[in-house]
Order: sequence, then structure tokens, then C-alpha cells
Amino acid sequence: MKWLPLLDQYDDLANLQQHCLQCHRCSLRDNARGVVFGDGAPDARLMFVGEAPGVDEDRLGKPFVGAAGQLLEKIMESVGLQRSDVYITNIAKCRPPGNRIPKKDEAEACFVYLVRQIELIQPRLIVCLGALSTQYLVHNDAKITVVRGNVYEKGGIKIVPTFHPAAILRDANKKKPVWEDFKKIKELYDQVSTSKNEPQ
Ligand code: URA
Repeated sequence: MKWLPLLDQYDDLANLQQHCLQCHRCSLRDNARGVVFGDGAPDARLMFVGEAPGVDEDRLGKPFVGAAGQLLEKIMESVGLQRSDVYITNIAKCRPPGNRIPKKDEAEACFVYLVRQIELIQPRLIVCLGALSTQYLVHNDAKITVVRGNVYEKGGIKIVPTFHPAAILRDANKKKPVWEDFKKIKELYDQVSTSKNEPQ
């Protein structure tokens, strides 16, 4: 699949970020302190995509810095991945009021930024954290309990859905399957790390 060539006048990540920081495509921006664009290496081979910023992310302007983010980093480290090796972003770049799930029109308004982030960063592997990013990047009616741990491929990019770390904080039974998924993610990461510029 070819990612839709929207926002293609922004030809580097910093330009795209500047544009995104001014975004008012949906009303989420009205109640958020700011836009949480993404964080990490601009040439990362591995990208994580969550749902939307929470209160800590909104305050600090960085994705996954609250309790779920701290757990995500611990899980990454347990399989030998460092946060500095990856790029982390969300489907919605602004915090929804009360941390609700972004509505369809909000997620859709924001999706163009993610598409362009993917085009510019060119990750070889994307991990969908939770149902929302899985539905946007794998299939619109994918059930996370069914598809987690599977490896999909689109446009030469491998995509692995897993449970959102916040789901583990609510239900400790999800810890083991997520750890299994991350062992697989690390294996895939090692494979794609040696072949970043291979033709697809
Ligand atoms: N949950 C998310 O989905 N994204 C964040 O950035 C933080 C928590």
C-alpha cells in the first residue's frame, strides 16, 4: 500500500512539526495546552504509535512520559530496546478532555500527520499500542485481543499490534502477552536494523 501523499510539501520532520504545532483541524486543540507531535530519532527504524496524549504528555509536550510511558520504557528495556532508538507518537496529537478516546472525526483529522511522519521517518517496523492505532494502521475493525502479536506488512513496513501499556496497568494479565509480543518486536527490530535502505 502507498501511504496517501498528503502534506507532502513538508519535506522534513522539523517543518512538519512546526506546521502541526499550529494545527486547529479539530476542536481537541481548544482544550489542550499544546500539540504533542512525537519524540525520538528522525531516522528511527522502529516507530510506536499510541492513542493520544494524557495529562502528563500535554503538560510536558512529549508522548508517553506518564505512568503508561514509564511502563512502556521498562518493557522496551526488558527486551534490549532503548527509547532513544525509536520514534514515538500518537494517532491524535492533542489531549482529549478527560482522557477519553479520540472521536472518529478527531482521529481522522490528525491521521494525515501520522501518514507524513511515516513517510519522512521511513520506519521499517511500526508497533501499534492499543486498539485505536491498530484500527488506523492495520484494519478498521481489527480487535486488539485477536490481532495482537501478529505481524502485518504494508508498503514494506512491518506492523505489530500489541496491548496499550495503560491496559496492563488496568489488567496485570496482559503483561505476559505484551512481553511475548515485545520479544518478537525485538527480533524483528534486529532484522530490520541491518537492512534500513534495502529496496522494498
Ligand atoms: N497514552 C497514549 O496513547 N499516548 C501517550 O502519549 C500517553 C499515554
